[in-house]
Amino acid sequence: MTDQHERQNLKAVVLSGGSGTRLRPLTYSVPKQLIPVGDRPVLGHVLADVVACGIEEAIIVTSPESHEAVSQMVQRHDYGLDYSIVVQEQPNGLAAAYGLAIPYIGGSSSLLYLGDCLLTGGASHLVEQHVATGADATIMVTDVDDPSRYGIVELDEAGNVVALVEKPRIPRSNLAIVGVYAFQPTITESIRAIAPSARGEYEITDALQHLVDEGGTVRSAPLNGWWVDTGTVADVLAANARLLAELHDSRSGEVVDSELIGTVVLGERAEVQASTIVGPVCISEGAVIRNSRIGPSCHVGPGAIVEDVHMANSIVMEDTILRSLRIRESIVGPRSTLLGNGTLQDEIEVLVGSDSSVRAASSHHG
Ligand code: TTP
Repeated sequence: MTDQHERQNLKAVVLSGGSGTRLRPLTYSVPKQLIPVGDRPVLGHVLADVVACGIEEAIIVTSPESHEAVSQMVQRHDYGLDYSIVVQEQPNGLAAAYGLAIPYIGGSSSLLYLGDCLLTGGASHLVEQHVATGADATIMVTDVDDPSRYGIVELDEAGNVVALVEKPRIPRSNLAIVGVYAFQPTITESIRAIAPSARGEYEITDALQHLVDEGGTVRSAPLNGWWVDTGTVADVLAANARLLAELHDSRSGEVVDSELIGTVVLGERAEVQASTIVGPVCISEGAVIRNSRIGPSCHVGPGAIVEDVHMANSIVMEDTILRSLRIRESIVGPRSTLLGNGTLQDEIEVLVGSDSSVRAASSHHG
């Protein structure tokens, strides 16, 4: 089989379940993989990279809560992949989630991609390396300053992974595991062999350690570019800022009496009136901006209405309504309404879930 055929034959396993506790309350109603960063949801970036790796089929693992929203999202957008969607009843670990995908993988090799993991340099070099070396597993890693916060791999002199340690107290390497792995079918036995860890989860690091201990070859591949695991508000906003900075101007909506500075993505039927937009900013289809100053580093979701607002470094999702306020470093879930008091004196920083309503006591708006 040629390398290209082998890449096409690979199946992606994309993990889009989990609990997202660090992003509550937003993640009570919005799966973290569906939070928009740059011009699309986190999961959209992951699926686009899976396609860029030459893969044609993906198995997406969701939680019971994220299943409907993830299914709708993949139906709405054609990323050019065939999908199977599997529900993981409990968030009992990455190895357990991968295990649910095994019946769909058949005898193929696979690419395990965490659905909240953003890589600008993509994973195709890892896939190429994995196919070329024939290793049992290839793990993406990167140098970090504080290895005790990460899953760490230790290499021997030949570059083979000999140990994987979760959050080591005394780290013997600073190579952190990023969240993208390629496997031969030999991983299956290790996935089935492990027991839950002290925190009650089936850990992918334990499965990989089992593979190493059984004599399997586990290699590492470097991260190209930067990586953000979108686990916290600060991570999500940082990812949004970085991805927006990589977009190119594209303006299809209507602009009246306004100034657009820097890179601005303006979706179909979006309207900007009497406003200043300081890029990089993404204003999605059908959003309306009036008498406002938006940017830098803002994502405004489809159908949002933003009037008399100053906004910086924030994500406001679809069909939100914001009036008369100053907002920064914030994430606002779909269909929520935030009404200020019109003085624009105080700046707010919020994390608001979906369908919520926040109103300043002296709000002039009805
Ligand atoms: P994590 O960010 O490690 O876990 P989490 O989503 O439960 O978040 P938090 O720590 O804030 O509670 O998960 C990494 C990725 O894997 C993410 O996309 C969710 C997914 N995942 C599953 O699909 N199933 C699981 O059992 C777990 C633990 C995570």
